Amino acid sequence: MIRHKILVVDDESANLRLLKRVLSDQYDVIEATSGAQGLELLKEHAISLIITDQRMPGITGVQLLEQSLDFRPQAIKILLTGYTDIQALIDAINSGKVYKYIPKPWDADELRITVCRALEAYELKERNDGLLIELRSALAQLEEVSMGTIRALADALDAKCDYTSGHSLRVSRYAVGIAKQMNLSAEDQKDIELAGILHDIGKIGVPEAILWKPDRLNPAEQTVMATHPVKSAQIIGELNGLGKVRKYVLYHHENLDGSGYPDGLAGEVIPLGSRIILVADAYDAMTTDRPYRKSIGHERAASELRKYAGKQFDPDIVEALLTMVGEQGELVKDKMPESVIGLSLSGVDLRQTGKQYLAGY
Ligand SMILES: [Fe+2]
Repeated sequence: MIRHKILVVDDESANLRLLKRVLSDQYDVIEATSGAQGLELLKEHAISLIITDQRMPGITGVQLLEQSLDFRPQAIKILLTGYTDIQALIDAINSGKVYKYIPKPWDADELRITVCRALEAYELKERNDGLLIELRSALAQLEEVSMGTIRALADALDAKCDYTSGHSLRVSRYAVGIAKQMNLSAEDQKDIELAGILHDIGKIGVPEAILWKPDRLNPAEQTVMATHPVKSAQIIGELNGLGKVRKYVLYHHENLDGSGYPDGLAGEVIPLGSRIILVADAYDAMTTDRPYRKSIGHERAASELRKYAGKQFDPDIVEALLTMVGEQGELVKDKMPESVIGLSLSGVDLRQTGKQYLAGY
């Protein structure tokens, strides 16, 4: 059982003696004869409860309690008053500075009960605050673990084909840039960036012979390749709190006109995050070298996106991307939109493409 420290403040020492006599068998009672002395003692001692007279020369009881918030914000505050300054009292109670006021002359038993209840409230608050701190640190840890997991997944894909990892990071930054351009909420931006990083994670399950084929894929190979959004979503399904991200990834190859896969969804039934990733993905694919062809450059990529806007792509998203990268594609790689999830690009060469991979193949 904790032995609480109680600070009692009164300019009349007879009152202090009385308070001490009533409380000192259960608590450590520290006495002060003025508000100023009370404040000094508050700095030195871990006080759980302050009992102060209201009417004192210099600092009044309410002022002392107000100033005590700087040193002992948690301490419970009780005001003793024989003085009928009702308005000051009401204000003090309403502003949460005073737990209770006790009119003078006070009754010893009543005071003991009030102090006991007040300290129970203090202990409860302390326990709750402790739990809250634990909860916050657990949540922060959880966040850290999931970011670590996500980076580990991206790195696992990197180990399989470094071209794809640079691609995923570029897509995530283009996607988050589009989300910002479209004034989406911070929460949506976060989910869209995560989906950008993870959209192709299911390619871990696609054979390298297909991933790195220098020619166009035949229908059988296309079928295998087309399983990757479902595989990506399955991997993400294992992670907590990524329900929306999973959905964005699952549908990142759905086309606006319903001609995409895996479900042939059309129009606004396709989640906005998926439509954004599709455009970001297509732009990056066209402006970087691929195993089977070279980059077609910004200008042609922009005209392809516009040509298929309303068919494959959402026209608003195409325009948001083109506004973001600039008409001339002047958004250079080292000026990529900033990450909203705090994932750094350290150790990743954003310019790395399939070309480098194939050179050492
Ligand atoms: Fe994909």
